[in-house]
Amino acid sequence: MTVTKEIHEKIIAPHGGILVNREIEDERRKELIEETEAMKSIVLNPWSISDLELIAIGGFSPLTGFMGEEDYKSVVEDLRLSDGLVWSIPITLSVAEEEASQLEIGSNIALYGEDNRLYGVLELEEKFTYDKEKEAHLVYGTTDVDHPGVKRVYEKGKVNLSGPIHLINRPAHDEFEDFHLDPSETRIMFQELGWKTVVGFQTRNPVHRAHEYIQKAALESVDGLLLNPLVGETKADDIPADVRMESYQTILKYYYPKDRTRLVIYPAAMRYAGPREAILHATVRKNYGCTHFIVGRDHAGVGDYYGTYEAQELISKYEEELGIQIFKFEHSFYCTSCENMATAKTCPHDKSSHVHLSGTKVREKLRNGEQLPKEFSRSEVANVLIKGLQEK
Ligand code: ADX
Repeated sequence: MTVTKEIHEKIIAPHGGILVNREIEDERRKELIEETEAMKSIVLNPWSISDLELIAIGGFSPLTGFMGEEDYKSVVEDLRLSDGLVWSIPITLSVAEEEASQLEIGSNIALYGEDNRLYGVLELEEKFTYDKEKEAHLVYGTTDVDHPGVKRVYEKGKVNLSGPIHLINRPAHDEFEDFHLDPSETRIMFQELGWKTVVGFQTRNPVHRAHEYIQKAALESVDGLLLNPLVGETKADDIPADVRMESYQTILKYYYPKDRTRLVIYPAAMRYAGPREAILHATVRKNYGCTHFIVGRDHAGVGDYYGTYEAQELISKYEEELGIQIFKFEHSFYCTSCENMATAKTCPHDKSSHVHLSGTKVREKLRNGEQLPKEFSRSEVANVLIKGLQEK
């Protein structure tokens, strides 16, 4: 089965109308590989490699390459591409000034990874400098270098290179191969499963009881759940993706209906941009074919940089234009008086009945090999995490 116009229309149209595919194959791929020998080359960090992949597989549709100055400014200042389409986070490729000065506009640039592997080619259309503080302030809402996303912005080169890309070799996701599907493939999968409505769930954490509660609450209203964990670069103290992937398989096996859930990786880097990243996350899941997307408490947040419901407030302004429906959930917890999962909307008891554990506390317990309260995490999940973290 190939992805057809009907499939797009039956489920949900990709952002901007066309599902992009910039992966180059067969004869043309061989030729391009040969041509790279005569090209200037640059080395991309893992963050940019994951952006390259997401552009190529259509996750970032309608982008066909790294953003030019007009789109960049418009996205940073107005959350829109220059043609007016909603887009919340700049997707750029930065290099140092000296390196940029060696690269000629109109030429093709070979894109290598830090592993010396050839990943793709950039048709260099533009080079432009940009204001990092402004990007940090407007996109991340802070210029504090302690913010992991802002730190990344400050570490980047001073010049952005832009233009269409071609993907020659995919980044390896060997350990996740069974869960690696492109947006064109998830669209076909949903069709084959007969799912007309699908809720996407973003996470960079193991699935705990509050996640499970909001996923299942959403699943009451739609045909299927796409558990779509981010497996690209995260901050050092987040639980590693391979350990998380094992924990997802475990919880799905014991607690979720097989015919109504699917696990697929989202091969992106985490930006921790809170409200703006919630919009990006929803946009990408629309490209994967989801009709609905969950935004809970402090989505894609870190520390105290964003208000608990700031992501929900921002995305609400763009929801209609995005065309993907957002399920917004309040902060969820287990209530010992209700003996149930609940939120302030459904629970009359005070905080002393609510089971709360901070992320730091959870990680500390797991690293010490301690079980988590069953009101917080399924014990099967905690066991996988304890084992995984102790092996690291
Ligand atoms: S994120 O950085 O990927 O957003 P996380 O994996 O913790 O972080 O969250 C995944 C999704 O679950 C997000 O939409 C987040 O808002 C939501 N979420 C996490 N914890 C809770 C909670 N206790 N109550 C309600 N929503 C939550």
